[in-house]
Amino acid sequence: MNLLVVGSGGREHAIAWRLSQASTSHKVFVAPGNGGTALDPDLHNIDITNVVALREWAQANQISLTVVGPEQPLSEGIVDEFRAHGLRIFGPTRQAAQLESSKAFSKAFMQRHHIPTAAYAVFSDAELAKAYVVQQGAPIVVKADGLAAGEGVVVAMTQAEAFAAIDAMIGPGDGAQAYGITTKNGEQARVVIEEFLEGEEASFIVLVDGKNILPLATSQDHKRLLDGDMGPNTGGMGAYSPAPVVTPEIHAKVMREIIQPTIKGMLADGIQYTGFLYAGLMIGADKKVKTLEFNCRLGDPETQPILMRLKTNLLDVLWAATEQGLDKIELDWDRRPAVGVVMAANGYPVNPRKGDVISGQNNTRQQEENNPNVKVFHAGTRLDNAVLTTSGGRVLCVTALGGSLKEARRAAYQVVDTIGFAGVQYRLDIGHKAL
Ligand code: AMP
Ligand code: GLY
Repeated sequence: MNLLVVGSGGREHAIAWRLSQASTSHKVFVAPGNGGTALDPDLHNIDITNVVALREWAQANQISLTVVGPEQPLSEGIVDEFRAHGLRIFGPTRQAAQLESSKAFSKAFMQRHHIPTAAYAVFSDAELAKAYVVQQGAPIVVKADGLAAGEGVVVAMTQAEAFAAIDAMIGPGDGAQAYGITTKNGEQARVVIEEFLEGEEASFIVLVDGKNILPLATSQDHKRLLDGDMGPNTGGMGAYSPAPVVTPEIHAKVMREIIQPTIKGMLADGIQYTGFLYAGLMIGADKKVKTLEFNCRLGDPETQPILMRLKTNLLDVLWAATEQGLDKIELDWDRRPAVGVVMAANGYPVNPRKGDVISGQNNTRQQEENNPNVKVFHAGTRLDNAVLTTSGGRVLCVTALGGSLKEARRAAYQVVDTIGFAGVQYRLDIGHKAL
């Protein structure tokens, strides 16, 4: 059977790696993939990113199942395109993906369906946005409306920081671009200004087949660049699974108050949800849970430790998810925790440098062969004539299982220490909240 994974990050490397383990008779393609998927003898990179071209390629190559990693192709309607041509694909349609691609859409959706979230207002005029900030007071959160790869959010501790973020996102000039925001042709850029929530964050990810909901293991991301949760927001600097902050009681509450009402609410609005659904949670000291955001995909880097722990055959799970058969699937998890440490490029997240040579990867491939509890997932890497170089912000995610969280951490950092590239940035405290 031929399988296709769309994307080029660490998340996609992890999905493709797990799919390739389903059976040696399957062929797993990754479009466009990265240096790590190029190095893996079981995976095959395909240099196509255009949605229609991918669909044509999938037809020509008898792809039996496609799974989509990132938000961009989902918001471009890759699921609609594949389905319209009778191809099996797991992901949300373009309409359903608006839960992630437009913060304004998802906030209005949550309000309409009484899904707990922070109070907010939407602005396209910078002066009105600033007046709202003055009225509400800092700390306050400024978010770009539109896809911004998890990096278009400023948690402003002061009014001045909030004003600067507003100017950068919707003020005069090219600010929106600096934030990586994609606005639809000619459409006015917007910001969502949100109440500042306090508490502990967790990532809650489920699979939805249009009818049934199947939760994955819990996880926690580390959004800030620096140790101690300092510095700017990033796409995620590391993650671990499970997240003890999600107790069985919190788990039940999230399913009841957030996940089920979201799937029902989408249906009530005429949209059948299929695909992964990721709720970013803020869990307060009072055990109240609010939704920070929805993503219509797996998290990156959460996927790496989550899939490290998944014992059930991923192909069986995804196949069932495209046949409304998730009620027949029971997920089996390794009881051991997993930790993933992101190694990021110099200059990330503002202006990541490309082209630095990565050393030590051959040693780690040997270590991986000897030790199934460690895996180095690639993201922003490139392989040219057997030379591996950096090609994006988040370069690698070194992931390890351990008998305890401490052991998993030790195992991951041991491998991190054997890999090097100029200007590498990584956090030393991944998993600190659970210790
Ligand atoms: P988002 O992309 O909306 O999840 O935001 C990225 C990060 O910004 C989150 O993971 C939080 O750390 C932080 N954040 C977002 N919204 C809020 C909020 N309302 N209150 C406090 N922190 C927030
Ligand atoms: N790690 C956060 C995300 O995938 O959006």
